[in-house]
Amino acid sequence: MTGRVEGKVAFITGAARGQGRSHAIRLAEEGADIIAVDICEDVPITGYPGATDADLAITVKNVEALGRRIVALKADVRDYDALNTALDDGVDQLGHVDIVSANAAIFVSGKPAHEFTEDEWQDVIDVNQTGVWHTCKAAIPHLIEQGAGGSIIITSSSAGHKGPPNIVSYSSSKHAVIGMMRTLALELAQYMIRVNTVHPTGVSTGMLLNDHTFKLFMPDVENPTDVQFGQLLLGMNALPIPWIDPVDVSNAVLFLASDEARYVTGLELKVDAGWTIKVP
Ligand SMILES: NC(=O)c1ccc[n+]([C@@H]2O[C@H](COP(=O)([O-])OP(=O)(O)OC[C@H]3O[C@@H](n4cnc5c(N)ncnc54)[C@H](O)[C@@H]3O)[C@@H](O)[C@H]2O)c1
Repeated sequence: MTGRVEGKVAFITGAARGQGRSHAIRLAEEGADIIAVDICEDVPITGYPGATDADLAITVKNVEALGRRIVALKADVRDYDALNTALDDGVDQLGHVDIVSANAAIFVSGKPAHEFTEDEWQDVIDVNQTGVWHTCKAAIPHLIEQGAGGSIIITSSSAGHKGPPNIVSYSSSKHAVIGMMRTLALELAQYMIRVNTVHPTGVSTGMLLNDHTFKLFMPDVENPTDVQFGQLLLGMNALPIPWIDPVDVSNAVLFLASDEARYVTGLELKVDAGWTIKVP
């Protein structure tokens, strides 16, 4: 039996851990080779630890264990030239690129909009919005030149559909990439290149489950844990779960990447356990 993305190559940003790693593994399970990019550094403005070289090495090991090829490179999505060079290197080694997962992002939270510093605004916009544009800008010429269509999947968020308090730069960036997706979907339709967004609710990754976030949400608890944090989040989704797992998003990405979605473009695909339909 052939896989659902057999013979395709996927370019994934933020692939060292969390959802990006899960996308790499899930797509590899279904027959794709992977070009994996990550900054592999702390991004201090976030307050939580970033991914590491060792994390990216685990992604490589997992993909190779599935018998697929992977080119893993360090690059910052804010640096267009570095990202473009990394993608070119990956395409040189793997032959082509068919799937783009613009997944890398950072999260800053904890204060109302008027109290955000310039950096807390700008760093998030630079990574989450400009970084997505850089990812698409680097990949699109390859997709057009190859003449075989393609699928671009931009990771937005439930915070791209609603504007929760205290995350102004994050929610702004996640709304912005929906506009980017719509423009790209129209520009690229003539080439059979599809562009869609995915919108997860909270996901069990280092972005959500970290001491910094626990303390922000539970300032009065001495050593807050993920179990206590889970209790707090339980009521937020319509389905009675605190968060979803990375693979739940990967399955949505896989569908959009595959030919099963060959006429799906301009879609905002929610994987949000009903968070955005919840009536308070
Ligand atoms: N975790 C959640 O609750 C949640 C919910 C909704 C949407 N999202 C979105 O899902 C996507 C994946 O996040 P995650 O949950 O896996 O978080 P994560 O922090 O575990 O992973 C993000 C990855 O992006 C990388 N990265 C950060 N800045 C980068 C840069 N400048 N250049 C290259 N790589 C960079 C990090 O090193 C990390 O490996 C993000 O777009 C995020 O906004 C997350």
